[in-house]
Amino acid sequence: MPALETITTLSALRPATATLRESGSLALVPTMGALHEGHLTLVREARRAADHVAVSIFVNPRQFGANEDLDAYPRQLARDSALLANEGVALLWAPPPSEVYPDGYATNISVAGASDGLCGADRPGHFDGVATVVCKLFNQVRPDLAFFGEKDWQQLAVIRRMARDLDLVLPHADAIYGVPIAREADGLAMSSRNAYLSTEQRSIAAALPRAMREAIARLSIGNAAEPVLADLARHLIDSGFDTVDYAELRHGDNLVPATAVAPGTRLFVAARIGGTRLIDNMAAD
Ligand code: PAJ
Repeated sequence: MPALETITTLSALRPATATLRESGSLALVPTMGALHEGHLTLVREARRAADHVAVSIFVNPRQFGANEDLDAYPRQLARDSALLANEGVALLWAPPPSEVYPDGYATNISVAGASDGLCGADRPGHFDGVATVVCKLFNQVRPDLAFFGEKDWQQLAVIRRMARDLDLVLPHADAIYGVPIAREADGLAMSSRNAYLSTEQRSIAAALPRAMREAIARLSIGNAAEPVLADLARHLIDSGFDTVDYAELRHGDNLVPATAVAPGTRLFVAARIGGTRLIDNMAAD
């Protein structure tokens, strides 16, 4: 297996990706690092689908709100690069912020519709930051395929919409793949932010997927969404969550709100324990 090459400047990235593309297809897995099994699932899918895999690690300041955890976000590049080398990743793109947003940087990408509601309502500007950096990552690396997690379902919808609307050539919209959520043994969706949880908070967190499965069981026998979602939110607070940002049933493909289960509907929840915000989504149809 060829060694992992770590690159931190655009001038070095161009020839490195060009060389990889000469000998086959190139997949990109964009991340913010602090890698866990969820990220590695994306890497393995990418390895299966493409000849070469590039992973980006960039904690993107533009997608963090003023009061969010940009400074606290875990950064562990040495550990991450060892994990990626072990997965047969060819290229690690880990630019400093000044390489991505040099002095004078002024452009923003905003995807209407898909960015509205759910996480877009609680985190103003977040999806502009995501769309902008992912568009830049696509232009920098020019992958044939790109892999994202269904953990961030709305993010995936925003990115696919952007790729269609901007006629992105590499990767074109149909070459943007969604990978199912990787979960811990107790059902909690894996997340770099789970590392913020104390032992007690971690056991409270397990109530989230459990309560979601219970709500889906009630929805699937024909109950209307509104009372079931209200019970779900109450249940999470009773279990030790501090706030529920949203608990909503929506159509998975266009994110339009649904009043009862139908083919393709999904349950979306965001809730906080202390300062840690957890999100999850599950099929409810
Ligand atoms: P990050 O949170 O590091 O996630 C990187 C990718 O891993 C995303 O596509 C995310 O959906 C996926 N992922 C995270 N946890 C997962 C899990 N438990 N199961 C499956 N996939 C999972 O999402 C971002 O970074 C950023 O917004 C980014 C797209 C890199 C833009 O900055």
